[in-house]
Amino acid sequence: MSKYKYNCLNPIAKVGLKLFSEDYAKIEDMKEADAVLVRSASMLEMELPENIAAIARAGAGVNNIPLDKCAGDGVVVFNTPGANANGVKELVIAGLMLASRNIVGGINWVQTVKEEKDVAKLVEKGKAKFAGKEIEGKKLGVIGLGAIGVLVANAANRLGMEVYGCDPYISVEHAWNLSRDIISVKSKEDIYKECDYITLHVPLLEDTRKMINKETLSKCKDGVVILNFARDLLVNDEDMEEALKSGKVASYVTDFPNEKTAGMEGVIAIPHLGASTEESEDNCAVMAVKQIKDYLEHGIIKNSVNYPDCDAGTFAQGTRVTINHKNIPNMLTQFTGVFSAENINIANLINKSKGDYAYTVIDVEGSINSGIAEKLKTINGVLRVRTLS
Ligand SMILES: NC(=O)c1ccc[n+]([C@@H]2O[C@H](COP(=O)([O-])OP(=O)(O)OC[C@H]3O[C@@H](n4cnc5c(N)ncnc54)[C@H](O)[C@@H]3O)[C@@H](O)[C@H]2O)c1
Repeated sequence: MSKYKYNCLNPIAKVGLKLFSEDYAKIEDMKEADAVLVRSASMLEMELPENIAAIARAGAGVNNIPLDKCAGDGVVVFNTPGANANGVKELVIAGLMLASRNIVGGINWVQTVKEEKDVAKLVEKGKAKFAGKEIEGKKLGVIGLGAIGVLVANAANRLGMEVYGCDPYISVEHAWNLSRDIISVKSKEDIYKECDYITLHVPLLEDTRKMINKETLSKCKDGVVILNFARDLLVNDEDMEEALKSGKVASYVTDFPNEKTAGMEGVIAIPHLGASTEESEDNCAVMAVKQIKDYLEHGIIKNSVNYPDCDAGTFAQGTRVTINHKNIPNMLTQFTGVFSAENINIANLINKSKGDYAYTVIDVEGSINSGIAEKLKTINGVLRVRTLS
């Protein structure tokens, strides 16, 4: 009989599901599942069966999952940040070309002459109006140097652009991956002032909402190109329309068209294709499955959105007890008290917290009786206890 059961609320790429060993069984009824894999299905109104210990979203956005409720039930929710970064990067590079070479205008025009007698001659005669600029040697500003921003910066640099990057909160990992040729600036003002192309790769937060607006655009070079493959609300659409009309902005490339921008003159509107690649879907599925396996088999948390990351290493021998609990005082003393009352030596203990919730992993040599888990469960603030042996 399989040790673990999982349920998929959406189709998940085979390359990911193949990573589940024979210890795992895919089941259709969520009631019995230890873990759930999901893409866009809404779980907001679902009653979650008690058995479920983890949910993995194969993708980045998690607004289809009730994160706080899950945390309160001791259910760890994972997502797959960066798994689709290469897909988005490639489309941003395409966006740079589309904005520079009037490829869309040219392609559309060819369709208008395709029934004519001498198409080849007409093409040669008419092509001048679609002449463009090359990106080599131009300045690109990348705002947000996370998984996507770093790849975009490095790729544009390799294409011969002079790249400026701005991210006051850049992670150590992303800083390591950023090419040394990228000019790192402290303030976005330097990007607005210097760059011919500006690409946004920040999340939508209070301080990034409508960050591209009348005031910031006025600081930009005339004829600047803005690329938005992050979220539509990062840009004030009314101000953008004005800037496109005046020529301040030469072109606005967006992967998030809305009622306002879809038909706006000067906008290149792409229907959210950034991560729409087979490879991105595969990468998301692989990452989601690996995270579920690491959690169920070893109690390792990586890329959770409602619990802290916690890597106690691979669980190989003895017994590992994992405890999801509230981030309140005096929990560790109570946990260790339960073990010491039974005269059990704790070999390793790791405790991490994130906001209102925390997670503790305790390793002991040998086996323990089930009474230990039952006692831990009665401690006020404990939400879930798992025993791996
Ligand atoms: N077009 C698509 O299909 C698609 C796909 C995936 C993600 N996205 C969007 O792209 C965004 C970036 O994705 P990612 O995977 O690179 O995320 P990420 O979390 O790896 O990177 C975001 C970066 O933005 C930085 N940041 C936050 N606030 C900032 C600020 N005020 N100024 C400068 N930098 C700031 C963070 O420090 C982080 O390094 C996502 O938030 C999402 O909205 C779009």
